Order: sequence, then C-alpha cells, then structure tokens
Amino acid sequence: MPYDRPNAKTPVPDCTSLPDLGRGGRMITQLLYTSVSRYHRGHPSDIDILQHALSHNRPSEITGYLLRDLRSFCQLIEGPEQKVEALFRRISMDPLHYDVVTRMRRAVPKRAFLGWSMGYGSLSQKDSDFLSKRFAEGPRGTLVAFNRIGRLAAGGAA
Ligand SMILES: Cc1cc2nc3c(=O)[nH]c(=O)nc-3n(C[C@H](O)[C@H](O)[C@H](O)COP(=O)(O)O)c2cc1C
Repeated sequence: MPYDRPNAKTPVPDCTSLPDLGRGGRMITQLLYTSVSRYHRGHPSDIDILQHALSHNRPSEITGYLLRDLRSFCQLIEGPEQKVEALFRRISMDPLHYDVVTRMRRAVPKRAFLGWSMGYGSLSQKDSDFLSKRFAEGPRGTLVAFNRIGRLAAGGAA
C-alpha cells in the first residue's frame, strides 16, 4: 500500500492545523484523507460508494473528489463543517476500507470542487508514489499533494 502509515518511527504529520486561506463569508471545511481499500480497483463496491456519494452529497452540500489506485483511496470532502464531519464519521466506519488517516483538515472561503458531488478518478502508481512522499513531508508537502490532486481531478497534467 503506497501511502505512508502512522507508526512509531514515522509519526503522522499534523496537517490539521493549516491556516485558513481568508476571512469573511461562510467558511467551508475541507478534509483530505487516505485509506487502504479492502478490495482491488474496479471491484463492484466502488460503484456502491459512488452511488452513495451521488445521492447523499448534493443534499448535504458536500462536494469533493475520490482518487483510487490499486489498493488505496484518497478522498477530499468539502462543505459545511458539521456535514463534513458527520460524513467522515460514517466513511471512517465503513468496512470497505481501513487505515483511514486524516491528512488535512482546514477552513477555506471557497470550494475547490464546486459542481462535483463526488468526482472519481484512477491514480497511476507514479502519482500515488508522489502523493505518498508529499504526505510524509508534513503540512507543506500535504499542500503540494492537495494541489496535485486538484490538477489530477481537472484532468490536466500534474
Ligand atoms: C472510500 C469511501 C468513500 C466514500 N465516500 C462517500 C461519500 O462521499 N458520500 C457518501 O454518502 N458515502 C460515501 N461512502 C459510503 C459511506 O461510507 C456509507 O457507506 C454510506 O454513506 C451509507 O451510509 P448509511 O448506510 O449510514 O446510509 C464512502 C465509502 C468509502 C469506503
């Protein structure tokens, strides 16, 4: 599994205290996590996940993006704080995956994925390795990873 897992030697960087990007207006919460999938990419349970996301996220004002490599997930969910936290509690308990690690949680003035109830894309091994290395670097690396995810989601060269 390519993402770095927490253990005694490599503590999970505290990416939960990144500064807000601005003030005023209604801030929204962005939460980025990684996890290990119980099943391989292309398993029918991926369709179930997306169906849940498509029916649940819009009424909850949640947008985001789900990236998947062969054995792991990387998902960004964003929206009103309480709704994001409620969804993340549900997702964290889902037996379809494990080793759920929060990589970033912050309040921002604007959504990154406006218009996507939940986008979905495959991660190449190269991109997966890149993200894993950035996550291991701490908050700055996590921001670089976040920007790469945005470009991958937009379908551009990362
Ligand atoms: C990697 C992953 C991502 C998920 N993303 C979402 C999501 O964005 N929205 C959602 O409603 N459910 C998502 N789910 C499914 C939830 O964990 C949960 O099964 C679903 O919301 C149904 O919950 P309920 O049975 O309590 O209604 C995801 C599950 C996994 C494993």
